[in-house]
Amino acid sequence: MSTVVLNKKLSSNFYLMKVNKTLNAKMGQFAMIRAWDKYPLLSRPISVYDEDGEGVTFLYKVVGEGTSIFSKLKSGDSVNVEGAYGTSFPILNGRILLVGGGVGIAPLYLAAKTLKNNSKDSVIDVLLGFTDEPLLLDEFSKVARDFKYQVGGFITDLVNDESYDYIYTCGPSIMMETLYKKIVNKDKLYASFESRMACGIGVCLACSCMTINGNKKLCTDGPIFLAKEVFNV
Ligand code: FES
Repeated sequence: MSTVVLNKKLSSNFYLMKVNKTLNAKMGQFAMIRAWDKYPLLSRPISVYDEDGEGVTFLYKVVGEGTSIFSKLKSGDSVNVEGAYGTSFPILNGRILLVGGGVGIAPLYLAAKTLKNNSKDSVIDVLLGFTDEPLLLDEFSKVARDFKYQVGGFITDLVNDESYDYIYTCGPSIMMETLYKKIVNKDKLYASFESRMACGIGVCLACSCMTINGNKKLCTDGPIFLAKEVFNV
């Protein structure tokens, strides 16, 4: 069991929760979290937002029973955190654009930090789209060379893919697919895909996803794929 260090409300339904657990998470990985005994049955998969010497931080959106229970946790409460699970975004150098939408912005903060620390020569720019209240603007502006956000509309309209060697994205499926269709070189886009998950460790097949390389499990073969592996099926 881990202990909640903070659980901060950021907007009407977004929260940032830090727990005193070491996951050594890589950018794009997730943890299975539960703060209850038997019900709801399943732990919830939540992307790692950040990790430091004091613990790991998750950005989550309240969308149902499990995340509603998370939102009521107080500092000092117990929570079960298993992980880190799944694949990570590749560590690449160059001009890299991160494009996120909604709760999909979560893994992009750790991604921006990791890529920035990996190479002083890399350029990390960030575009975030929100449906209503923008979140974590100060945090992202500190880890990006150029940071832009938009409330409403299509954040993909701001993408100029020719200016970048690689693009990493996480967010609503429609946003990621629009981005995939827009960019000329499909080999430069890596995407984090979402699905319902039950076990998180590759045994239940609840997260099955069709790719150009056959059926894959999002929890162990993903959640990060070269976008064309999924969108080009
Ligand atoms: Fe069980 Fe992926 S969630 S196999």
